[in-house]
Amino acid sequence: MDSSYNVLLIGGGGREHAIAWKLKQSKHLGNLFITPGNPGTEQAGVNVKIDASNFDEVTGFCKEHQIDLVVVGPEAPLVDGIVDHLEENKIAAFGPKQSAAMLEGSKEFAKEFMLRYNIPTADFSAFSSDEFDDALSFVQSKDTYPIVLKADGLAGGKGVFICENEDEVKKRLNELKTGSAVSGAADRLVIEEFMEGEEASVFVISDGHTSHIIHNAQDHKRIGEGDTGLNTGGMGAYSPAPVLTEDLLEQVRQEIVEPTITGMQLDESAYSGILYVGLMITENGPKVVEYNCRFGDPECQVILPSLENDLLDLIVAAVEQRLDEVKIQLDSAYRCCVVLASEGYPEKYEKGKEITGIESATEESLIFHAGTRTKNGKLLTNGGRVLNVVGSGNTLKEAIDNAYAGAEKVHFDGCYFRRDIGHKGLQKV
Ligand SMILES: Nc1ncnc2c1ncn2[C@@H]1O[C@H](COP(=O)(O)OP(=O)(O)O)[C@@H](O)[C@H]1O
Ligand SMILES: [Mg+2]
Repeated sequence: MDSSYNVLLIGGGGREHAIAWKLKQSKHLGNLFITPGNPGTEQAGVNVKIDASNFDEVTGFCKEHQIDLVVVGPEAPLVDGIVDHLEENKIAAFGPKQSAAMLEGSKEFAKEFMLRYNIPTADFSAFSSDEFDDALSFVQSKDTYPIVLKADGLAGGKGVFICENEDEVKKRLNELKTGSAVSGAADRLVIEEFMEGEEASVFVISDGHTSHIIHNAQDHKRIGEGDTGLNTGGMGAYSPAPVLTEDLLEQVRQEIVEPTITGMQLDESAYSGILYVGLMITENGPKVVEYNCRFGDPECQVILPSLENDLLDLIVAAVEQRLDEVKIQLDSAYRCCVVLASEGYPEKYEKGKEITGIESATEESLIFHAGTRTKNGKLLTNGGRVLNVVGSGNTLKEAIDNAYAGAEKVHFDGCYFRRDIGHKGLQKV
């Protein structure tokens, strides 16, 4: 690569700040625009207001600003087909096309796919939302609890219910039928066997044919310490995950990643982009919990700092189907990300609190912005998840200590964070 690339990055959370930060280090980056971006991404490029769900508006911006490459952070535009639309307009885009993004866009699609290609995952059955009685009979015939109910479509982490008994199943089936919580996502539902084990995820980059595992991580979805309380977008992550030994990673590559990429190719929906494989490490080996069609947030924030490759070169190699020429290079450090959240999140919380201390926190950690904004030169909270503090170290313990040393230096009214990010990993090393 000897030219320079003008890039439009779509998204505005901590994940996109990490992507923008990493792209900025590329020697091939021309202009970088981010939409909507946040005060963090502004340190790497220019934030612009485009409605990313309006693909014509995105295309128009790309033509006007000679954009060479669009990088898509979140899942919704991918599942809605933004990559297909851009390619029809001769604009290169990094991410799966709509038919491939179905691996995340429909849990039933993903399960049927895994079944066909013999990819290890929980046993399941799928129903339409008006087959309430059939779904209940299925659960009754199984009669093993817990059992897992999932809305088929994108539900922003609110469509999965682990039910402990039949009454709970009835209650959840009713809720899904009336569609209160996850309207639209629950036209169909998947009921699956509960898998026992520890969770971890691997992040894969694919050009449709060749794929590489970039790295692995473990996240913390619950709001409370010890994995208690409500589900959130993610309260922290660490990488690498000691539960994924070399042998297990090799097994994941052979039994899960390669069959997935090959299967999508055989189905004529070649998967290009980042593939997030959520795993359960069970007694019988690793099994797929779910696929996501993009980087996780906050996993991305611990993975990209470990990546020694030029991210832009890597993405361009994927878009040009040259990943066979590339080798993934990682540093040997551990990383831990602590999410600073607004008091009350994931339920009701206030915005507009002044944030201080970021400057001194950068002495021991990297700070990525998630829900912040600036007003009259001040930095204010502007979301449930406000900042991501990433510590690194030669050991997991050191990475955790550095993340918390950074977190302690940041202040805003009602700042909440979990104190036990990474502790599960410490028990393994
Ligand atoms: N079959 C299963 N067995 C055990 N736990 C599960 C199972 N499926 C999902 N879970 C739990 O529920 C969480 C959310 O499910 P997931 O399929 O990842 O949906 P989403 O991320 O779209 O909400 C998982 O991270 C895992 O903790
Ligand atoms: Mg998930």
